Amino acid sequence: MADLMEQKSRGAWSSKFGFLMAAVGSAVGLGNIWRFPYIAGQYGGALFLIIYIVVVAVLGFTMLTMEFTIGRYKNANVLDAFAMGKKKRSPIGWLCIFTPFLIVSYYNVIGGWIIKYLVGYIGGGSFVESGDYQGVFGGFTSDPLWSSVFTVVFLALSAGVLIFGVKKGIEKVSKFLMPALFFIVIFVAIVSLTMPGAVEGLKYLFVPNFESMQEAGFLNILNAAMGQAFFSLSVGMGISVTYGSYLKKDQNIPKSAVIVCVLDTCVAVFAGLAIIPAVFSVGIEPTEGAGLIFVALPAVFKSLGGFGIVVAVLFFVLVLFAAWTSAISLLEVLIAAVEEKTPLGRKSSTALVVGVVLVTSLLVSLSQGGVFGNLDLLTLFDNITNKVLLPVTGILMCVFLVANIGVKNAQEELLLNCKHHSWAKVWGFAIKYVTPLLVFFIFVMGILGWIGVTV
Ligand code: PHE
Repeated sequence: MADLMEQKSRGAWSSKFGFLMAAVGSAVGLGNIWRFPYIAGQYGGALFLIIYIVVVAVLGFTMLTMEFTIGRYKNANVLDAFAMGKKKRSPIGWLCIFTPFLIVSYYNVIGGWIIKYLVGYIGGGSFVESGDYQGVFGGFTSDPLWSSVFTVVFLALSAGVLIFGVKKGIEKVSKFLMPALFFIVIFVAIVSLTMPGAVEGLKYLFVPNFESMQEAGFLNILNAAMGQAFFSLSVGMGISVTYGSYLKKDQNIPKSAVIVCVLDTCVAVFAGLAIIPAVFSVGIEPTEGAGLIFVALPAVFKSLGGFGIVVAVLFFVLVLFAAWTSAISLLEVLIAAVEEKTPLGRKSSTALVVGVVLVTSLLVSLSQGGVFGNLDLLTLFDNITNKVLLPVTGILMCVFLVANIGVKNAQEELLLNCKHHSWAKVWGFAIKYVTPLLVFFIFVMGILGWIGVTV
């Protein structure tokens, strides 16, 4: 009964499909669309893809099931979920507030860039008419006024959804956006694959290139694949714990996690198919990185003539959807914690969180234009979160599950409404030993790479 009341007082997903779409919405984001294609290219194309899929299946799946399980078991915001004993806060809860806070602060800025390009293409694409795509991109991102305005617009979009809470807000939007996203990415992939010379891009993505593997080094590829999987699946920062806390007991957690892993990987591969062949077709380097979407793709769209404007609008709508749902999930963790830990209601909590995030997002945006000298807050926040905070939190979560919840209880929670119980032992072993060790490996490799030590 107490359990029921507790469930009633917190938000809950109204349907299994709604939860799934929100979880997929959180996972699918900029990580899939711009990061995956160029990382895959840099680290050996097909070889990276194979390693990535193995890593998602082993590490990503375990982490995701673990976070959903902790969330549903504790049925609480991240601060309470990771409390040790009655009042004692654990550092994990605070990490789960701090990490999404840093990520969303730069995610909003990139979201703003996307809106700028979308608006530009809706207006006919004249802003890139000069053909100096690097110049247009650099000019915009370093313009303090306009890059700030678009950052605010993107944040306002997320806030608008979040103010309505779980059911009316996130679930409703995700249910509509996620299926739409799949159609658009497949469409853009088809357009890209029919461009002249697209086959080179296909080779780049699907034919193993051992030379580039030797160049990059196997350990580095593994490290890159794990980092990408972590970020892309939104694990290691309590997002999935929060989403899991709204789960009803009849949801099959392992099945949901499989679906999220599969769909997230599919979107990444399709995004690769949408971007890389087209990039080859117009003779641009696929390793362009953060600028790939904004610098290379306008050239691709131009090569398609008038039809290119339509494709561009569709493409940026897709990226906006993906970034938007991810930003929503990042903010939701913060709002859920404030709402449940303070007397503030949903609306005031949303306002408070959005207000604080607004300030940091604007600082990140301004740092792109050299306002703070050489300090690039976007890169700094990205490095701190992906190379340090995500792996550390991931390891601590595994330890917490074993020490606080216990593997047995966790297995029971995990397997509720689940037909196949046979692999629970493997899962327990993975949480206790395999996952923390692998994550520790990412952490050490990431730090070594960051400080310039090559292994
Ligand atoms: N998974 C998202 C992506 O691939 C990013 C993200 C990270 C979203 C963390 C929410 C939380 O872009």
